[in-house]
Amino acid sequence: MKDLNSLAIRVRAGRVEALDQTLLPVREVWEDGTEPVAMIALIQRLAVRGAPLIGVAAALSLAAFAEANGKEGEIRTAAAALRAARPTAVNLMNAMDRMLAVLANEGVAALSPAAEKIFFEDVELCRRMGERGAAFIRDGEGILTHCNTGGLATAGIGTALGVIRTAFEQGKKLHVFVDETRPLLQGARLTAWELTKLGIPFTLICDNMAGPVLRSGKVQRIFVGADRIAANGDVANKIGTYGLAVLARHHQVPFYVVAPSTTLDPLCPSGAAIPIEERGAEEVRAGKAPAGAPVWNPAFDFTPRALIEKIVLEDREF
Ligand code: MRU
Repeated sequence: MKDLNSLAIRVRAGRVEALDQTLLPVREVWEDGTEPVAMIALIQRLAVRGAPLIGVAAALSLAAFAEANGKEGEIRTAAAALRAARPTAVNLMNAMDRMLAVLANEGVAALSPAAEKIFFEDVELCRRMGERGAAFIRDGEGILTHCNTGGLATAGIGTALGVIRTAFEQGKKLHVFVDETRPLLQGARLTAWELTKLGIPFTLICDNMAGPVLRSGKVQRIFVGADRIAANGDVANKIGTYGLAVLARHHQVPFYVVAPSTTLDPLCPSGAAIPIEERGAEEVRAGKAPAGAPVWNPAFDFTPRALIEKIVLEDREF
């Protein structure tokens, strides 16, 4: 495989490496995810995360495995295990299905070029979403975002955060409000890190501060990403997105979802049918609640289409 470089995933001399996002913003440590078992562990502990990135990372790991071990049966087994690493983001399933189709139609040698193609396509999808979405943002606006949807969540500039970045790079004056995104703080740890590096002005808020911020009139638009878009336009995204969309409707602030077409799931009829990952209790207790306090920890929720102003894909919005 060729050497590849992005903010959070890279290939060097045939080895796949991922920036351990659980350690950001304190430490920048790259972990080896060449072996599918290692990549699965990285994805499951959210060292590698974000819907588009987990698809790209799984494809690169599968290709590296195929280069080292050409046995078709073992490649298929590895693809099935990677595909099942997390349940909600359909980009992972779409990437693995695409790799398996390449294996079936073109053979083992075609897997590395296919994974490289998935990587570069994601970069291009981000660029196109950025251009399309930035057209909705006017000079001087306040924008609120949730979770992390930037270069850490994709191979390119990101989805919702890519839109914000593109508008900023077009010279629009912006101020971004960043939800911290409980319980794992992707907003506070990751989006704040990316915005700092990009020099984009922002204010970090706790998730439960979004209501007063919207009421203050400082936010003109909300941009979020997606993990899966059902056939009826309902959108699964990081837990807290639905509550934010309800608040946005109350305050008449337009709510935009930005995602590549790899996030579409036409076979899933509605949000209620999207599998929602549930994670461990300790993520919510976070060492603060009594040991053993009962916890419910869904990692995602779904937002009904009716609360969304526009879903922005790379080639259209609806
Ligand atoms: O659990 P995570 O951090 O993988 O969740 C990520 C999100 O929910 C993002 O908003 C989504 O994947 C879109 S990222 C471009």
